[in-house]
Amino acid sequence: MENFTSKLNEMTLEEKIKIIHAAGLFCNGGVERLGIPALRMSDGPNGVRQEFENDKWIPTGLAGDSVSYLPGNTCLASTWNPELAYYFGQVLGNEARGRGKDIILAPGINIKRTPLCGRNFEYFSEDPVLTGRLAVSLIQGIQDNDVAACVKHFALNNQEFDRTTVEVEVEEKTLHELYLSAFYAALTEGRSLSIMGAYNRYDGSYCCESKKLLQDILREQWHYDGVVISDWGAVHDTEEAALHGIDLEMSVTPDFDNYKMADPLYEKVKNGEIPESVIDEKVSRILNLMEKIRIGNPGRNPGSFNTHSHHRILNRIAEEGIVLLKNEKQHLPLNPEIDSKTPKRILVVGDNATRTHANGGGSAEIKALYEISPLLGICMVTGGNTECQWMPGYYVDNEGDIKGENLAGTLEIRDKGKMDKKQWEEEILPKRKQYLEEVLEAVPDYDEVIFIGGLNHSLDVEGADRPDMKLPYGQDDVISALADATDRLTVVLINGSPVEMPWIDRVHSLIQTSYCGMNGGYALARVLFGEINPSGKLPETYPLRLEDTPTSVYHSYPGEMGKDGHRHVTYSEKLMVGYRYYTSKEVPVLFPFGYGLSYTTFSCSNYHVVVRNMGHIGEFQLTLSCEIQNTGKYDGRETLQLYVGILEEGQPKMALKTFEKVSLSTTEKKEVALILTQKDFAVYSTEKKCFIAKSGTYMLYLGTSANDILYRTSIDLLQDYVLS
Ligand code: BGC
Repeated sequence: MENFTSKLNEMTLEEKIKIIHAAGLFCNGGVERLGIPALRMSDGPNGVRQEFENDKWIPTGLAGDSVSYLPGNTCLASTWNPELAYYFGQVLGNEARGRGKDIILAPGINIKRTPLCGRNFEYFSEDPVLTGRLAVSLIQGIQDNDVAACVKHFALNNQEFDRTTVEVEVEEKTLHELYLSAFYAALTEGRSLSIMGAYNRYDGSYCCESKKLLQDILREQWHYDGVVISDWGAVHDTEEAALHGIDLEMSVTPDFDNYKMADPLYEKVKNGEIPESVIDEKVSRILNLMEKIRIGNPGRNPGSFNTHSHHRILNRIAEEGIVLLKNEKQHLPLNPEIDSKTPKRILVVGDNATRTHANGGGSAEIKALYEISPLLGICMVTGGNTECQWMPGYYVDNEGDIKGENLAGTLEIRDKGKMDKKQWEEEILPKRKQYLEEVLEAVPDYDEVIFIGGLNHSLDVEGADRPDMKLPYGQDDVISALADATDRLTVVLINGSPVEMPWIDRVHSLIQTSYCGMNGGYALARVLFGEINPSGKLPETYPLRLEDTPTSVYHSYPGEMGKDGHRHVTYSEKLMVGYRYYTSKEVPVLFPFGYGLSYTTFSCSNYHVVVRNMGHIGEFQLTLSCEIQNTGKYDGRETLQLYVGILEEGQPKMALKTFEKVSLSTTEKKEVALILTQKDFAVYSTEKKCFIAKSGTYMLYLGTSANDILYRTSIDLLQDYVLS
């Protein structure tokens, strides 16, 4: 076993400084003299990114760096399955190790505060419990492969618009209850060995220089002893970053010695402005991480990538991450053949049927070994007795329509983009019209029409938010026209964030998927044709209109420019984010949080609540149990969700506390037990700086979504309990 930590005493100041800043775009400096290798890092959430030149953002062009393309975190979150999150982490960690990496810059766990955030596709949910539970398992999966996870972005990086300068103003209670709690779980239960600071500002400082976030909360309140890495280029001031908690500075330019925590920090330590002990702490945390991931140990997991077992796991995640939102008249699953003598004719319409998504989105991009598009998946599943045709249906013009790659963040990114109105009307509109006419003419010749649209990584992208919640490229018109033209229409949307669906009442079959990874198209086809019974549930609310979302109602996005030159965004909706808001204010939504249908049906009965005291005063275990039965024709899975309502001013009507996904074959019946403890009733006390479960009455809601409540009851806590 290499003992790196003991080498600290032998290191010169120059050598220590090398360890705590980048010597390449994805590595720090090692100390060869002492046998300390550089740490090798890679993005990110969707798999291990391709190799770049050490000092340029230019891919090396290696043939050996194609990898498994994992489903996005939104897809994973839609599975509501912590076991799959662990396997997801296993694949990611194993591939990272296989590619020779030490730290994988994942998972991204920021709360989806507004549906417009360009990076939502990389994040899990609008809810911290769902996010935290899955992130914990995922991190454990990564780190079981001798690779460090790096949970990101700490904290409050909930919009891409002006992300590098925006100052977030949020009350402390909301900060802890909503925005920090998944991070807390990731570090304490998940034991993530590293964490990445965010670009944005909070409480008057950049997050990577924030005494409050990095010292007071992370180190002192949470006792975190892992490595804090800056986001790339998020450090602005040597002293603030060094003294307030960054251990390793990373950035995007090749002048590594000029980084704030390179030569400038060396000078400050040399002339006594910053004590060397501050540097020692950082170095020893990094050396400690190196020991934990067993660098230099001959028994270290060698990892592997692109294996069959990885692909099998990714298949399962994609299958369970697909959400059936509407299935009136039981139109789905589709039957691939009428009879083998008459080939069935299927018309597949839409750009997302043929588009692959791996190579987009920003730092989450992947050089995928392969990616099965939905059209290919459909052809693979239906086979030779079916005729499958594809037509675009709508015209995608990324030059004119979308300018999502503008990393400075702009709201002017869609539709007219850089093209002026006249040019747009002359060039784009006629093409849209033509594509629509062509498809409508073809529809009567087909037995089934499957529309596959949604967003793509021009809009679900790092560095820019969406300007609105609408489907781009005139898709609304195409879907409406198809719905008028045939009642054999199935709509599939692929997107990392909610979209408005003005045509919803006219469409009877609707499937929603996020980016589902390399086998996503195949998984989708298996769901469409009934080889897989869908069991995904939305990890975020689909509002009816952007105007209904809390950030619109409270005018709390994207903030305003302040006199100090920073954009300021005040989270004035406080805890009222996502379903917390819609359920509290009884705002109708398109599809609620936690919603998703199955090809089978379930019934629940025999609800019981049992409370057991656990020895110490105020400690208890509450078990809510019920019987659930599969009452339909297919084997399937249902997810029971337990919400708690804290009857206190400012608290939302309900907040998710635990959930359980249950597998049931046809007619099978199972007893399910959902367990809560005192911590699930606690709120943050700003005064005492800790969580307290206060005595009083609480509501319990058991449901299959935030709006589909099967059983409700109340419980009384008799004394206060202060969580340590
Ligand atoms: C992103 C991080 C990413 C880093 C390195 C930054 O722009 O915010 O999530 O890990 O780049 O690519």
